[in-house]
Amino acid sequence: MPSVTFVLPDGERREVNVLKGASAMSGAVQSGITGIVAECGGSCACATCHVYVDPSCEGLLPERGTLEDELLDAVAADRRPNSRLSCQIVVTPELDGRLTLHVPETQ
Ligand code: FES
Repeated sequence: MPSVTFVLPDGERREVNVLKGASAMSGAVQSGITGIVAECGGSCACATCHVYVDPSCEGLLPERGTLEDELLDAVAADRRPNSRLSCQIVVTPELDGRLTLHVPETQ
């Protein structure tokens, strides 16, 4: 299973295994990353799975879709250029060990 690193607001780093082809959000929820709420269960409707993609991972992910882009306007923490919804990040084998996502202070 590919692994993704989540950095919690206090700086703790957690490496999470995600089923190939599943979302980064699902891996976070299954591993108990408390800062990822994911109220809608991944249907791109709640904006409570917000993450910041680490600058070292620039260019690693496909562009966000229109719906994700619109919903990012509703996130509780600051929206930044590297903001993404983790339910829309599909974890592929190519991302194994390469993707780092920062969890915001609030969702
Ligand atoms: S889990 Fe609801 S938008 Fe991502």
